[in-house]
Amino acid sequence: MPLKTIENLDVTGKVVLVRCDFNVPISEDGEISDTSRIERHAPTIITLVNKGAKVALLSHFGRPGGKFDENFSLGFVSESISEVFKASEVVVIPDCIGDVAKQVISDLPNGGIALLENVRFYEGEEKNDPVFCKSLADLADIYINDSFSVCHRAHSSVHGITKYLPSYAGLALQLEIEMLEKVLKNSEPPMMAIIGGSKVSTKLKLLGNLVEKMKYLAIGGGMANTFLAAKGLNIGSSFYEKDMLEEAKNIMEKAKTVSCDIILPVDAIVADKLEFGVESFAVDLDNVKKNNMILDVGEKTVELISNGIINSKTLLWNGPLGVFEIPPFDESTSSCALTAAMMTRAGGLVSVAGGGDTVSALNHAGASGGFSYISVAGGAFLEWIEGKSLPGLQVLND
Ligand code: 3PG
Repeated sequence: MPLKTIENLDVTGKVVLVRCDFNVPISEDGEISDTSRIERHAPTIITLVNKGAKVALLSHFGRPGGKFDENFSLGFVSESISEVFKASEVVVIPDCIGDVAKQVISDLPNGGIALLENVRFYEGEEKNDPVFCKSLADLADIYINDSFSVCHRAHSSVHGITKYLPSYAGLALQLEIEMLEKVLKNSEPPMMAIIGGSKVSTKLKLLGNLVEKMKYLAIGGGMANTFLAAKGLNIGSSFYEKDMLEEAKNIMEKAKTVSCDIILPVDAIVADKLEFGVESFAVDLDNVKKNNMILDVGEKTVELISNGIINSKTLLWNGPLGVFEIPPFDESTSSCALTAAMMTRAGGLVSVAGGGDTVSALNHAGASGGFSYISVAGGAFLEWIEGKSLPGLQVLND
């Protein structure tokens, strides 16, 4: 179904509430480590500003659990927002509902921008509570959802609010859907998926689906440890999910019956702790010591994964292969990402990546520009690939 888009929408002098996703990654020193999520909204926001709308930006940040917590306050993104949206001033409002917020927004000049406080400071947000939906809607004349990355959440600011305001899909949301449909619906075999990240439990269904569709399924990150442990291999003191061992075995069995090659680490980069500057070692998997934590896959594994990429026509990537934020545990992710980018540029591969961490990891590798498409969405990207219908999209259908 086509989405209701903002093309030809008259917004001059109207208050437009834009659901953004400023759930940005934060580095150890508290800085925004990757601004991709903010940048994605620039086309929508700049269009609205140029058309003379009064723009109110609404987002969540983290999971504060329905109550105020200053660690999750959104004011810190205002500087980046001004830079990215080329706005001389962004008015920061310390609430996201209520008369004061409403007054400040309506007092904005045409083309002005205000940033509302974290919408998850209210319990009503995650409950999709009609009273809270109405309070949000009271702020504005028009609602625009510009975040594919939140469309899997049936929350007030994504779903319920659309009952009370004329609602549209923003340019970033629209582009994301168009690109994902284009690249994934026309995907050519052989297909490969690289799935990393820490937990099997969060990607179990995805992995089960992928083995049926993929020729190669490379598993890295913390979740690979669960698979290695399920195979009876020694993973030292590495993180793994004990209660997922059976599931991991089932996935490996299923892969055999459908001729999907699961590529698991055969070597690793280990250290006794995870911190900057820690001494690390390259080891084969039969040499992992009791105190060792597996923090990245090793060179031999990189070669296996790279061969998979070279022999595929379509690549789907979610999750880094190692703890890429802390060198040298970024090397495998960077190396495989550069191979994928090179193959894509040469016209031999369609490559699609998604997920907050994945975007940061590919940016860190300098490989993002080479991918066919990179989605900033995490959970929504995974649910979309699983074929689920996303509540936030349903309500924007024309
Ligand atoms: C994300 O990071 O995927 C989105 O911002 C959604 O966040 P959530 O998983 O906390 O709903």
